[in-house]
Amino acid sequence: MAKKKMSLLERSMHFTFAHLQAKGKVAVPDPATPIQIDPDALLTMVCWGDPQISSFSPLRTARFSAACADIGNMDGTLDAIVFAGDLCEFGASREFRMLHTALRGIGSHCAHYIAVPGNHDIRLRHYHKQQRKFFRFLADLPGGVAPEDRLNYYHKTEINGFTFLMLGSDRSSFEASYLSDAQLQRLDADLTAAELTGKPIFVINHQTLKRMNGLPVTWLGKGDWRGSVGNESDKLRAIFEKHRGVVFITGHLHYGVSKYNYEDHGAFKALSLPTVGVVNHGAFDKFSQGYVVTVYPDRMVFRARLFGEGRYVDPAVENAEIVWEYPAELQA
Ligand SMILES: [Fe+2]
Repeated sequence: MAKKKMSLLERSMHFTFAHLQAKGKVAVPDPATPIQIDPDALLTMVCWGDPQISSFSPLRTARFSAACADIGNMDGTLDAIVFAGDLCEFGASREFRMLHTALRGIGSHCAHYIAVPGNHDIRLRHYHKQQRKFFRFLADLPGGVAPEDRLNYYHKTEINGFTFLMLGSDRSSFEASYLSDAQLQRLDADLTAAELTGKPIFVINHQTLKRMNGLPVTWLGKGDWRGSVGNESDKLRAIFEKHRGVVFITGHLHYGVSKYNYEDHGAFKALSLPTVGVVNHGAFDKFSQGYVVTVYPDRMVFRARLFGEGRYVDPAVENAEIVWEYPAELQA
């Protein structure tokens, strides 16, 4: 069969990626240690924060492409890749095209792509036009999960019997999110329904809650609300606490694997993702970090991975490996 001709954008990204790897400026993931799918797992997914793809940063795009190559090295197929927002730096159409192109490195090794918008994806742009662009990107991606009506960022999906609830700001915002009462009511109702499955429930948002995941330290010590979802933080927390088994997955902080990434709050767990594209803050500041999340009938395992290098983070690093054993009322 004739090979598909590469577009100019593809050729330019391909050339830059190869050049930066040849120069040693971007890691090459080790093909000998790919992610393995455990046949006993009910669900295996990769969770990435903040690729923030930008035309102005070939290095960032190349680091993200290296992470995609690590998935491309797999034998099996992930059930999902979850993006906790800030897919692009400026939310530009070209950046979404670059992201789409980089994701081709994953090939057929991912069944679903889930994404929520981050402040960089929406700010300084016409709200509804940007929303359409965001969902068009997902709808055009093989396996991309986009709601049918595309009227709100909030939507839900189910993968292997597990519920995923995606939050998103109801208006344009520079840094925090605005979660309307209508969105919070839908979340509450959907959590009530999902609880009947008796399984853990995944809630994805770009920003974590106030004073959570090391805030304000992880936002470099700035302010009470900064780095968090903002004004609706207490309302969101109250909803989580009404239910059982929520795994709240967020990004935005660009903080490397540390004691702050995972917090057990009883009713809910809070997993804050490092950035897979940009510079990570903190003592563990390596590039292309993220988590592989494996769900079993009785436990969930979160393993931090240096995707760009194709290896897991040394277990000596705090929160490099977390095992959550479910309480009796929760058995996946
Ligand atoms: Fe952000």
